[in-house]
Amino acid sequence: MKWNKKYALGIAAIDAQHKQLFRLSDDLDTALQSGIRTEDLDALLIRLKQYAARHFTLEERQMADLDYAGLVEQQETHEEFVHHFSELHQQLATDGLSAGLTNLLQQELSGWIRDHVTGMDQEFGSFYKSRG
Ligand SMILES: [Fe+2]
Repeated sequence: MKWNKKYALGIAAIDAQHKQLFRLSDDLDTALQSGIRTEDLDALLIRLKQYAARHFTLEERQMADLDYAGLVEQQETHEEFVHHFSELHQQLATDGLSAGLTNLLQQELSGWIRDHVTGMDQEFGSFYKSRG
């Protein structure tokens, strides 16, 4: 999936981070096409984990500052993301690299971008814009 300016929430720091996530997902696709090594995938999952910690903190702080009613649902969804991807990361450590795991990662990450970044987060964007 490619970034499009229609996905912008209008909050510069958050939009910049969302673009980083599109790039990360792109990097994963590219790495998988060219044959990824376990240590590359490990590095990528560490990047994703660091990204998620930074990004969710900022996004939730913005939502809390504006008394956004969707905050709790967002927090829960973010927590599920962190938990799920850390499980997949753990799976890489214990079972090693497999086509099943890489396919799942690709699907889950692009699914997250589609359903969350260009879905649920857009509702917050509309709310933010309505607040002026
Ligand atoms: Fe979010």
